Amino acid sequence: MVSAEFWGDIAKEFYWKTPCPGPFLRYNFDVTKGKIFIEWMKGASTNICYNVLDRNVHEKKLGDKVAFYWEGNEPGETTQITYHELLVQVCQFSNVLRKQGIQKGDRVAIYMPMIPELVVAMLACARIGALHSIVFAGFSSESLCERILDSSCSLLITTDAFYRGEKLVNLKELADEALQKCQEKGFPVRRCIVVKHLGRAELGMGDSPSQSPPIKRSCPDVQISWNQGIDLWWHELMQEAGDECEPEWCDAEDPLFILYTSGSTGKPKGVVHTVGGYMLYVATTFKYVFDFHAEDVFWCTADIGWITGHSYVTYGPLANGATSVLFEGIPTYPDVNRLWSIVDKYKVTKFYTAPTAIRLLMKFGDEPVTKHSRASLQVLGTVGEPINPEAWLWYHQVVGAQRCPIVDTFWQTETGGHMLTPLPGATPMKPGSATFPFFGVAPAILNESGEELEGEAEGYLVFKQPWPGIMRTVYGNHERFETTYFKKFPGYYVTGDGCRRDQDGYYWITGRIDDMLNVSGHLLSTAEVESALVEHEAVAEAAVVGHPHPVKGECLYCFVTLCDGHTFSPKLTEELKKQIREKIGPIATPDYIQNAPGLPKTRSGKIMRRVLRKIAQNDHDLGDTSTVADPSVISHLFSHRCLTIQ
Ligand code: WTA
Repeated sequence: MVSAEFWGDIAKEFYWKTPCPGPFLRYNFDVTKGKIFIEWMKGASTNICYNVLDRNVHEKKLGDKVAFYWEGNEPGETTQITYHELLVQVCQFSNVLRKQGIQKGDRVAIYMPMIPELVVAMLACARIGALHSIVFAGFSSESLCERILDSSCSLLITTDAFYRGEKLVNLKELADEALQKCQEKGFPVRRCIVVKHLGRAELGMGDSPSQSPPIKRSCPDVQISWNQGIDLWWHELMQEAGDECEPEWCDAEDPLFILYTSGSTGKPKGVVHTVGGYMLYVATTFKYVFDFHAEDVFWCTADIGWITGHSYVTYGPLANGATSVLFEGIPTYPDVNRLWSIVDKYKVTKFYTAPTAIRLLMKFGDEPVTKHSRASLQVLGTVGEPINPEAWLWYHQVVGAQRCPIVDTFWQTETGGHMLTPLPGATPMKPGSATFPFFGVAPAILNESGEELEGEAEGYLVFKQPWPGIMRTVYGNHERFETTYFKKFPGYYVTGDGCRRDQDGYYWITGRIDDMLNVSGHLLSTAEVESALVEHEAVAEAAVVGHPHPVKGECLYCFVTLCDGHTFSPKLTEELKKQIREKIGPIATPDYIQNAPGLPKTRSGKIMRRVLRKIAQNDHDLGDTSTVADPSVISHLFSHRCLTIQ
């Protein structure tokens, strides 16, 4: 197979403790022929941390090269960390983890803001063969608890507190709540390691290169509680830890990490990626899609809590010995100049962000962008959701001054790295199209009966053969992996996205075709929001649909049917929003909540979301409504639509 030969050559550029005994690739994509499995280089052993750090320092002599310029939430709060310093800290923390009893195969939960210790923590897990499960620090304590329990993590790494723009987040408090909930559910987490981040100034740290970054702002008075016997300070443990640590040699097919992504049933899926294939895939996509050169300064604005951060803040850039920016803040703090001033400050050459950020900044006009030089920029990337041509053009014309190719990269948590993407300078672009497959990727478009469509077509986007970065299983539930991705069309990996191919062969993603929503580039399932709503005592039933939003792309429009004795009020709306924030996190906060005394249902009782989506948009062209059990509910809902964002 061409793809295995191609990847075989690439594998030679990495360090293998023992080579692949062969075969290089074995797989089954067809549920009708048995269990789904994908094995790349099984039997070969390596360590991804060794490849991305030790080799860069010792073999490639990049020890003094900056791995990350860290830019804090507050302008002026900065530090940098070289490859050598990163290696030392990772070895120290690996020793800390081992001393705490963490062994190969154990799961470690990480709940941290974008600070250098987050990178150190994940690489230390990788070094000792433990699986990191990073939970985005914007998720609620409930979400953290659910994820800790699902993969029975024995240790949690977190932070005292941090600022996101002007908002103070007391992360330790949320972590404590999560651990309390785990305890109540009969799963006590043994240890919680806490980085002193806001309180850093008190420690007088920052003088020694292998210490954490200095902080210039005075520390606010954050009260954090301390659980004796469980909580340990990161800096105290690091002081005692040795700075050499033999890596754990792992099979290429050993799991590297778990990252949860929303599932259409409402329960998040623990996507499992493996050591060897993921390493090859993120290193190679990074190199070609961003046309990497040694002198580049790369900046991916994604949080490491998402797959984009895993692959293109940490593993991909480090595998190439790149210098990156690690940004803790947000694009609008202290003002909308922030991103472009950082671009100029570090002379960023390759910049990677999400359409939602572009649309947000577009609203403020060209001036905040054009008053900065941006002369260093060479390639601009986007990811996370379809980019509308208007935002694409603004990105190209204003941000990139028409000089920089745009790489619109389509991929998923499940795919590990880029799947459909232009190669900068080589692929003629079309605004809004992710263009063509990456090397070794074989897409197809299927119709409802599973037939491959040729030429100009629209249908289900699937992939016909494995690439090294594909997920291997859903943690603890292989059957769910098979059902979600392989059952609908035997023989294919099903993305869940709709796609159109035009007459020139360009691929255009048309959006999700399952019960998933994409809010600001983050996937949410309707089911998880609905179940958070019905947990409120006033709510009998809830239905959630996606609704177009000028900045977020899509926002949540919720219909709620109340229990007898409850009345709909602004107070209740607020309570419901709070409920969702607490159950899931602020990203899932709905923009609209409508009182729905009745919901349109089929005679068998299924809620007709298709009709609800139209009602939310005041679109009376409902198509066939003959299956609606009680048509009168439709006119009621139309006349009581929410007209403004609440
Ligand atoms: C959507 C993010 C159109 C798509 C890396 C996919 C996109 C889901 C694009 C995965 C793009 C991502 N154009 N749609 N360039 N990139 N998507 O798992 O619906 O958070 O299935 O991974 O985002 O989101 P996830």
